[in-house]
Amino acid sequence: MSASQREPFFVTCPTGLEPLLEAEMRELRLVRTVRGVRGVAFEGSIHDAWRANLHLRTAVRVLWRVARFAAPDPDALYAGVAALDWARFLSPERTFRVIVRSRDSALDHTLFVAQRTKDAVVDTLREPDGRRPSVDLDDPDLRIHVHLYRDRCTLSIDTSGASLHRRGWRRTQGPAPLSEVLAAAVLSFSGWNRRAPLLDPFCGSGTLLCEAAALAAGRAPGLSRERFAFEALPNFDAAAWSGLRSEAQGAEAPPRKLVLRGSDASPAAIEGAGANLEAAGLSGRVELEVADAGDFAPRRGWNAWVVTNPPYGERLGDERALAPVYRAFGAALRDRCAGYRLALLSGNPRLASELELPPAERVALRNGAIDCELLLADL
Ligand SMILES: C[S@@+](CC[C@H](N)C(=O)[O-])C[C@H]1O[C@@H](n2cnc3c(N)ncnc32)[C@H](O)[C@@H]1O
Repeated sequence: MSASQREPFFVTCPTGLEPLLEAEMRELRLVRTVRGVRGVAFEGSIHDAWRANLHLRTAVRVLWRVARFAAPDPDALYAGVAALDWARFLSPERTFRVIVRSRDSALDHTLFVAQRTKDAVVDTLREPDGRRPSVDLDDPDLRIHVHLYRDRCTLSIDTSGASLHRRGWRRTQGPAPLSEVLAAAVLSFSGWNRRAPLLDPFCGSGTLLCEAAALAAGRAPGLSRERFAFEALPNFDAAAWSGLRSEAQGAEAPPRKLVLRGSDASPAAIEGAGANLEAAGLSGRVELEVADAGDFAPRRGWNAWVVTNPPYGERLGDERALAPVYRAFGAALRDRCAGYRLALLSGNPRLASELELPPAERVALRNGAIDCELLLADL
């Protein structure tokens, strides 16, 4: 593939974030976007795929769709995979792994499909001296995605590698961290204008604050990441990639006076948030303190956004112990935050009702395995 040749790509995202992802992709001038289930397709060059990996905040992976064919049986699958020129993607010294999803298809044994695919790849690449790429399930250079739907196979090369929520700055997790991708989505749904003060009184490991600080600075989310899978592809051009990264660095906005403030009842959480912000190079931009959310008393007339993710009572503490925390926090919001805007990610409707919020807009989201609602309200 030459650098300018147009190819089909599919950017994956968590359920419910497709409209946000498509808006981001359009802003990045990616063309022929088509919204799908858990992702958005586009057409572009391999450099566009690099840009997508570097800049998209709500993306999980950028898949390069390299083939589509009928695969009603094992022989058709083998022939379809073997028809590809695998030397474009892999050399004998590289490692790979095959990831399979199958729905409504005769080939529904995913382990078998992965093995047949692996055989076809290896057979086309075996050198006369017997050298061949090997399988590495934990940390492969290349991930090949096989998606079977109604006996049709889509083969994709994962240009990202580890999920894009791994920005490269996380040093500590805390017991219930928010994914960076979901945090970016919460900020986007909140309508935060990147200038008003933003406060997170249950900040935990500081994910929302890190994402907010990066957003306000115009910092590309992939800049702190160590590597992307496309760097191991034979067509990788290190000089062109370094040019794209420098361009992204150059586009960063100079720090401006912006209030970003996080607090948490746990001193360990505040320490962790500090370590994460420091690793992201954003520590000077965020104020952190140990405080109980029931004592939340920001300055009046600030016209701030409160964007937060309180404990759900499933993974942290139990529901009964948390009800008074929610009641006290709800009272603080009503009594001390008039004129503020609230975006609260709730994973427990009973606890959320203890807040006694004014009527809120609700967005259904998933946080890992937990069904959540993002409550958006004017206080
Ligand atoms: C779901 S976690 C937040 C996770 C965070 N968004 C992150 O990405 O790491 C909820 C946080 O609320 C904190 N917390 C629990 N009770 C609190 C209280 N009364 N006041 C302030 N923080 C509290 C916990 O220490 C925990 O860090």
